[in-house]
Amino acid sequence: MDYVGAIILAAGQGKRMKSSVPKVLHNLCGKPIIQHVLDHTSSIADSIYLVIGYQGEEVKEYLNKTNYYNIEFVYQEQQRGTGDAVKMAQDLLPDNGKVLVLCGDTPLISAESLKGLFQMGSEHDVVILTAKVPNPYGYGRIIRDKDNRVITIEEEKNLNPNQAKVDEINTGTYCFAIDKLKKYLPQIEADSDKGEYYLTDIISLMVKEGHSIGAFLLDDYREGLGINDLYQLAEAAKVMRNEINYNLMTEGVTIVDPDSTYIDKGVSIGNDTIIYPQTLIEGKTEIGSGCQIGPNTTIRDTIIKDRVMLTNSVVEECIIREEAKIGPFAYLRPGNDIGHGVKIGDFVEVKNSNIANGSKIPHLSYVGDADVGEGVNFGAGTIIVNYDGTHKHRTMVARNSFIGCNSNLIAPLKIGEGSYIAAGSTINKDVAEGSMVFARCRQENKPGLAKRFLKKE
Ligand code: UD1
Ligand code: CA
Repeated sequence: MDYVGAIILAAGQGKRMKSSVPKVLHNLCGKPIIQHVLDHTSSIADSIYLVIGYQGEEVKEYLNKTNYYNIEFVYQEQQRGTGDAVKMAQDLLPDNGKVLVLCGDTPLISAESLKGLFQMGSEHDVVILTAKVPNPYGYGRIIRDKDNRVITIEEEKNLNPNQAKVDEINTGTYCFAIDKLKKYLPQIEADSDKGEYYLTDIISLMVKEGHSIGAFLLDDYREGLGINDLYQLAEAAKVMRNEINYNLMTEGVTIVDPDSTYIDKGVSIGNDTIIYPQTLIEGKTEIGSGCQIGPNTTIRDTIIKDRVMLTNSVVEECIIREEAKIGPFAYLRPGNDIGHGVKIGDFVEVKNSNIANGSKIPHLSYVGDADVGEGVNFGAGTIIVNYDGTHKHRTMVARNSFIGCNSNLIAPLKIGEGSYIAAGSTINKDVAEGSMVFARCRQENKPGLAKRFLKKE
């Protein structure tokens, strides 16, 4: 097959974002905008030239940490328009074959649509990917003659009143015959007021020379939505979320209220899992089957096995094993391995700890840097004192131990198997297995003394 290259334009600052972060690095359903464009493009292009400029180093640094293997970065020092940006990459292309040109700020165009565009490219010197949108304001319009042939693309500021009514827009995505692109790109003239070179001007130049121009109309116009400001970013996110939720629901996941469920692209969820409203599931998260998640829950970069119940809680970078019950109001910080059937209850914070199968930490506890064996019960208000002000230390509680309510376990500490810590104890010495430990003041009762302290009637 012939060579297929792609040039992605991402050098602009994105002034309309009013943000110091480069536009293409803004987050869209778990990934920077540019990454969605790259994901779709890399499925069909042999090589990708990414034109960067404004804060280009940041964009490059981010992408170098990902595993795209076929990107070459091209610099456009001054952002002098989309035509100029393509010029920066043209010499890197071979003389023949096809090249897709895409905008880094149009992340919803699917790989299937790009394939359709590319296939139509075999019949034309250039094919423009277009969409019929409800509100075309701000986009370049596809202007056709009376025989319906594309004759030019007109930018918003140059539209006459008739053209302003045209609802077919340029998505900024094209498939060019490389030889034609190279021939006509240098002929684009600078715009009279801004001095920018508009890639869209290449269309009328090619029409004048009798070249054949195709337009591939998107079935679903929403794929063509571009992101120029933060409102449009939110709109694109809504479209993408809708698709993510749809795909999950058709695979057997119950999403009680899709409009209030925010799941990142790439998250996997097994069937017969129910997601309740106001739940965010982010990053590299995998959830098994038959779970109940939410409401009001945030999960990030976490692996959750089957039949877990997790409600009104926040969980980051953990593994939660089968049939564990978490919440309501638990906070699982990074580094926890929560065993099979474990119960982590209300107002419990756990960090960097291993809690083995069947253990219970049901109420009002802090557990940090601990290794807790199987079948351990932490009474309400158990606190692991893991930090001495300078260092963090680990605590080990061996299997089948019982920690009474309101105990402090001062690390470093080892509590042997089957031990029993009396409620209210502060433990700072290791405990041998099978011990009963009291570490609290003895109670003294003074019969009759109470009346001295009680108010008289
Ligand atoms: C562009 C198109 C418009 C189309 C719309 C689709 C032009 C002149 N207009 O307008 O017809 O309807 O996209 O969303 O092409 N860029 C560079 N270097 C530059 C300028 C821009 O790399 O010098 C990049 C930007 O980073 C961006 C993309 O090109 O990713 C498009 O630029 P933008 O300024 O957003 O163009 P639009 O006004 O949206
Ligand atoms: Ca744009």
